[in-house]
Amino acid sequence: MIKILAFETSCDDTSVAVVNSDYSVLSNIVSSQLKHAEFGGVVPELASRLHLKNIMQVTKLAMDQAKVQFSDINAIAVSVNPGLIGSLLVGVSFAKSLAYSIKRPLIAVNHMLGHLYSNKIDHPELEPPFLALIVSGGHTELVYFHSKDNFEIIGRTRDDAAGEAFDKTAKLLELGYPGGPIIDKLAKKGNRNFHRFPRALKEKNSFDFSFSGLKTSIRNYLSKQDEKFIKVNLNDIIASLQIAIVESLVSKTIRYAKLNNINKIVVAGGVSANSELRKQMYGEVSKIRGQVYFPSIEYCMDNGAMIGAAAIDKYYRKDFADLELNAFSKKGLRFI
Ligand code: KG4
Ligand code: ZN
Repeated sequence: MIKILAFETSCDDTSVAVVNSDYSVLSNIVSSQLKHAEFGGVVPELASRLHLKNIMQVTKLAMDQAKVQFSDINAIAVSVNPGLIGSLLVGVSFAKSLAYSIKRPLIAVNHMLGHLYSNKIDHPELEPPFLALIVSGGHTELVYFHSKDNFEIIGRTRDDAAGEAFDKTAKLLELGYPGGPIIDKLAKKGNRNFHRFPRALKEKNSFDFSFSGLKTSIRNYLSKQDEKFIKVNLNDIIASLQIAIVESLVSKTIRYAKLNNINKIVVAGGVSANSELRKQMYGEVSKIRGQVYFPSIEYCMDNGAMIGAAAIDKYYRKDFADLELNAFSKKGLRFI
């Protein structure tokens, strides 16, 4: 069995994993940088410094938990784009040095593709063609995969990402960071029909998303209410906001699937942990007699295991990076 040691440092989680070539995960250590919560969002320079501080310890923990030594590792994988450049550089430098010193091939992984491959961990049999909705703190993309390396971007956000809409609302309401999991939890106790927030870009021929109008709308709505009203109805306001985000994501995905007779849908990225998104997507996909795949919750947010999973095909294709490999922050799903 091939074993891949994988690194993910594109944002504010330092994560190292050991993954087998059958997609079983031997370890997946995620060290979340809680320090950013004080600032209500990720502070890039702080993130890079904390990666640098943590990466050795996280690597040791991942190796110990997997009960492996460097001699058992067949390849080193690392996410190289997109992300915060300083954060990516820490992971890439560390992975390059390690690959050089233990004389193993280095595999460069696109972070978004990593998110998609997180689905392989629970469903190794999953293969294209499928329609993928990749929703994270920095991205919202609807992508049709004809095959593993032939894909088409169907739609993307024109402004904020879906995760950003959750994070910015949570910041506005002083709920904490990251906003998604907090909103998800509070919304469970709320009435999602309390207030109707706008669903943007509803025109039939557009598969792009937009969440900045929603942000303005919630800001305007809150500014018209007094503090007591917001406090008493907080869960209802949050549930109404969450359903507005979720409905935009689900309706466009399903509309494209219906128009093109697609019955396999894959969801990935931090926002794929959202319970309302799961519920609505399962409901709508069952109406078109399709199948929908979500990663397990532990593999939705940034993690090393998904990077290891995305590296497996590349290992077998001998698609290795040389030691000149660089990191780049450019957004989007791009094969490298
Ligand atoms: O994929 P990810 O870990 O990082 C990026 O690549 O951006 O995604 C992080 C995003 C954050 O915006 C966070 O608020 C959101 O995923 N998120 C959620 C949930 N869990 C994480 N959003 C909605 N509901 C959740 N349960
Ligand atoms: Zn991510």
